[in-house]
Amino acid sequence: MSSMESAPLPLQPSEADDIIQGVLTENKSKFKTPNQIGFYRRQKLLLPGQSLYHAQLDTFKIDDEGASLRIIHQDTNVPYQLQVIALKGGIVRLKIKEFSPLKSRYEVSDVLIKETATERFSVSKQESDNVVLDYQNGLYKLHIAAYPFSVTVTQDEKALLGINSQGLLYFESGVSSPPGSVATVGDIDAPQDSSKEEFGLWKEEFGDFLDRSLTSVGLDFSLHGFEHVYGIPEHADTHRLQDCGDSEVYRLYNLDVFGYSVCNKMGIYGSVPLLLAHKPSHTCGIFWLNSSETMVETHYKASLQTELSQAAPVTRKKKAVPMVDVRWMSESGIVDVFLLLGPAPQDVFNQYAQLTGTQAFPPRFSLGYHQCRWNYEDEADVEAVDSGFDEHHIPYDVIWLDIEHTDGKRYFTWDPVKFSDPLQMQKKLQEKKRKLVVISDPHIKVDPNYSLYAEAKEKGFFVKDRNGEDFVGTCWPGSSSYLDFTKPAVRDWYSSQFALDAYKGSTDALFVWNDMNEPSVFESPEMTMPKYVVHHQSWEHRDVHNLYGFYQQMSTSEGLIRRSGGQERPFVLTRSFFAGSQRYGAVWTGDNKAEWQYLKISIPMLLSLSVAGISFCGADVGGFVGDPEPELLVRWYQAGSFQPFFRAHAIRDSKRREPWLFGEGNTLLIKKAIEERYTLLPYLYLLFYRAHVSAELVMRPFWVEFPKNPETFGVESQYMLGSALMVAPVLVPGVSFLDVLFPGPGELWYNFRNYKCIKGQRKQKVGVTLDEIPVYQRGGSIIPMHTAVGKSTGWMEETPYKLYVALNSKGSASGELYVDDGHSFKYQHDRMFIYRHFTFQKNVLSCKSAENTGHFSRECILKKVLVMGLKKMPSEVNIISPGKEKTQVTFTYSHKLGLLTMESLSLDASADWEIHIVSS
Ligand code: NOJ
Repeated sequence: MSSMESAPLPLQPSEADDIIQGVLTENKSKFKTPNQIGFYRRQKLLLPGQSLYHAQLDTFKIDDEGASLRIIHQDTNVPYQLQVIALKGGIVRLKIKEFSPLKSRYEVSDVLIKETATERFSVSKQESDNVVLDYQNGLYKLHIAAYPFSVTVTQDEKALLGINSQGLLYFESGVSSPPGSVATVGDIDAPQDSSKEEFGLWKEEFGDFLDRSLTSVGLDFSLHGFEHVYGIPEHADTHRLQDCGDSEVYRLYNLDVFGYSVCNKMGIYGSVPLLLAHKPSHTCGIFWLNSSETMVETHYKASLQTELSQAAPVTRKKKAVPMVDVRWMSESGIVDVFLLLGPAPQDVFNQYAQLTGTQAFPPRFSLGYHQCRWNYEDEADVEAVDSGFDEHHIPYDVIWLDIEHTDGKRYFTWDPVKFSDPLQMQKKLQEKKRKLVVISDPHIKVDPNYSLYAEAKEKGFFVKDRNGEDFVGTCWPGSSSYLDFTKPAVRDWYSSQFALDAYKGSTDALFVWNDMNEPSVFESPEMTMPKYVVHHQSWEHRDVHNLYGFYQQMSTSEGLIRRSGGQERPFVLTRSFFAGSQRYGAVWTGDNKAEWQYLKISIPMLLSLSVAGISFCGADVGGFVGDPEPELLVRWYQAGSFQPFFRAHAIRDSKRREPWLFGEGNTLLIKKAIEERYTLLPYLYLLFYRAHVSAELVMRPFWVEFPKNPETFGVESQYMLGSALMVAPVLVPGVSFLDVLFPGPGELWYNFRNYKCIKGQRKQKVGVTLDEIPVYQRGGSIIPMHTAVGKSTGWMEETPYKLYVALNSKGSASGELYVDDGHSFKYQHDRMFIYRHFTFQKNVLSCKSAENTGHFSRECILKKVLVMGLKKMPSEVNIISPGKEKTQVTFTYSHKLGLLTMESLSLDASADWEIHIVSS
């Protein structure tokens, strides 16, 4: 029988509809609870303090590549190799793997951008039961103890980070089996310890599915002196990770969870195994590089801290300090972990970026507002929605098409009736300087007449089932096969599908949305790909599961770059992601609901993504599932306009939601929120440039900006946009005031709309109306903005600028403006950009070049400058430009606000000049 014949018959439409209906319902039992996860239950049988792993220090070796030694399990005598590698820039890598594994173990490769240069450790002590290594000239010491094996990183003789200090190193040396939903006992060796079988630990049953594996790894870490840990997205939960207690655990397993529950540690669409720990004196990170299903337990406790010294590794002093225990458990792979030693928050972000890259610099249009719906029905619908924005004078940049735009959910095609002239549709959008985003999912409809399917099948590009046939699962099109994006040739081929001549009906105004790429497989265990499925080089899906979406986005983004001959920056949104996904585009938080609690949870969810390197993130504005009440919708627009990715989206059976459908008053409020976004574009664009070149976060939790102020460490409902804007979204209905924390001391905060100043270091009630959410500019900052808005960002390339100068208590401020062509790589290849630095000091505002740049010119007229916090009314204000006569400027001054306004300027922001404020 040919493999084509073995493919199941396509589902009948009614069958497919039933399945889809099932998918679009919440059903908690679709997903495993922790106690249904075999490897987790097995690891939990190992209790702290029972480690049987010993380091054989007589095998200790050190060279330029790092240190290595053998670890042995006392009972099984299985030997493991430990490698400790000192990377430049404050990163220590630890790898533990078997010397002779029964089956090869997967090591994640494409996530790391390049091999980081190594440093040589020096051995500062070596005894029979311990070795001490110096890192960064002794700033940090690594104490490796033999019995049981553990590593403690110290700084100034104080323990910072312990590894295996609880003895939870865990390594299963078995293999996994591919029985799928059929129980075929005896096709591989059962574990020697039959009691494990009895307890259902080795065989994992979930509904009708049976799976077996015995390849898991685990390790514990102790974070000394820390009371705050963050990161490990994606969970619909608090930003500060919670104590897992006895029964909870954070799961990192990419799953399609429709209408996920909030305040929940279950795995949803993406996983970044990066945990950050912060205390006033230190920030550090643990990056656990493993792409299989992973569980993370966090426990807060107080402990007696041991102070170690080189002279005497025994306890010298003990004192009670807070501490966080973190236990990582993964289903397969090896132990490969990076300790990011900080010490400041930005150092950790730099260290992580050194390993996994920074945020891709998005094309400018993608920072505008995106209008999405499942589905915009046809070309007429697209045109009507597009015109609606013009009729209501609301700016927007992108309209999105969901799965129904295709010919029967065959991606890269168009519905021949509803979208019969996609080129014309895109031409019309392009004339208005707007873009189109279409969806492209990773499942490919089983249909020999669908050329994409036929070609992929012929080339052997689909993942395989246990018989070596193309795996067939169910998704939107019915029976579907799944591209094996882990294979470079598949990625290359998929990328080539985006070429304008390959993708019929596409233009360079079309960008891409990768959805369902956990991947979602209806009717499979947990609605995802079964773990036995076979990938490139015979790796099981279990090994690479969390990387599937990462690879699809990588390939899509590469495809868009290639279609432009390497000239244009791509825009690709993905639902599923892994560490490093930031290099390929944006991420959104999936199928949230049109309820207040989902607006509220979107803030910590986006903050957790941000600290894990994914700056370009957003949540569906309005909530995907259900129909938002108008107040919620307005509040969501107001919050979304101050978040990195700003897209409204709605499920197919929801009421239409275009911004003008909620009465005139609400239309105006939504318009105002969107317009505010567009005026702020120069600042946002600068933030994304900084994210790209320097790994700075766009959306920042307070602890990142105020690392010495513990009062800010738990803040989840306010955040910073860059370092200059503080945003306090309204997250509950019917409120007339908000409790806002104004961090301090010594900080000044200026109301972004009325310029009133508030001193930092306290919580204050601030009045709110439905008009807007509280936003404050931090004293000491200068924010560039546009003076007006256009139909889309494309109409605003030469829109004049204004500067908001907010003085700090010393009367100074600084900021930047970054301008380039907004879409190409010329900023990178030819340094074609304008980058200006503004400073305000001693009553002089100066504009200077921030960096040497290429010959890029663009009209950047500065029309208006506001100076907030100016104590004295000026007697005159003069502009001094090199080689020009001094000119006087007209201004107004408000004594009450200390606000100086200069409205009729016409300064070239790309040239050098100074504004001198003279007071007699
Ligand atoms: C699930 C996505 O999360 C949602 O945004 C999209 O509209 C549907 N798939 C249909 O494609």
